Amino acid sequence: MQANSRQVASNQSHLHPRLTAVVRRHLTTTFRKPPALHNRAAFRRLLAQLNTTQRPLVLDSFCGTGHSTATLARRHPDHLIVGIDKSSERLGKHPPGSADNYILLQADCEDIWQLLVQEGLAVDYHYLLYPNPWPKARHLQRRIHGHASFPWLLQLGGRIELRSNWQVYVEEFGCCAHLAGCRGWVARVPEGSGLTLFEQKYRHSGHELWVFTANACRDETGVIG
Ligand SMILES: C[S@@+](CC[C@H](N)C(=O)[O-])C[C@H]1O[C@@H](n2cnc3c(N)ncnc32)[C@H](O)[C@@H]1O
Repeated sequence: MQANSRQVASNQSHLHPRLTAVVRRHLTTTFRKPPALHNRAAFRRLLAQLNTTQRPLVLDSFCGTGHSTATLARRHPDHLIVGIDKSSERLGKHPPGSADNYILLQADCEDIWQLLVQEGLAVDYHYLLYPNPWPKARHLQRRIHGHASFPWLLQLGGRIELRSNWQVYVEEFGCCAHLAGCRGWVARVPEGSGLTLFEQKYRHSGHELWVFTANACRDETGVIG
């Protein structure tokens, strides 16, 4: 295990000055983007699995190698866990697992969220573990909460858990969720063996780890406080 991971370096030490304006715009306009063909195909796989298992859904968005997906499958044995990552290389490093209640999709999370929302589907739990931080201030809109797809994420509902080794990212995400009426709290990630490979690497490198947690956010989007 590498124990020399660098801390996030950013020209931003507090919440982004345009955060509120950006999220308000996204919450009050309708984002339309035709999902890519490969994401539609991945979504059909998800739907088929959902129809077969008839279990409530858990998402592990940006799952990387899917180590967390397998762990979450054991944590939620009565659910179908769907790990989503766009990188075939990362997904290719998934260790063969024994649980039969999870699948991994190579897809863009935003398209899968949109397709789920269009189908009127919701999730019970949504894990977003160590997404790329996009630490440069000018990249605000590449962060999950700064992206136009953020309202879809909230419309999926469920208990949201977002983790990062960059405190500002977690606080920004929490602030945007609050602006949409989805109340939660920021805390340190409890000590433990690590839910993901990135978490293990950051922990071994002595980073502080942060988590935003919120309960069921469904139907609360658009309520701007
Ligand atoms: C920092 S890694 C974290 C992976 C994993 N959650 C972990 O903690 O080990 C971020 C992951 O997000 C994936 N990713 C980035 N943008 C994505 C997108 N729009 N849709 C799906 N996956 C994406 C990358 O391929 C990468 O595997």
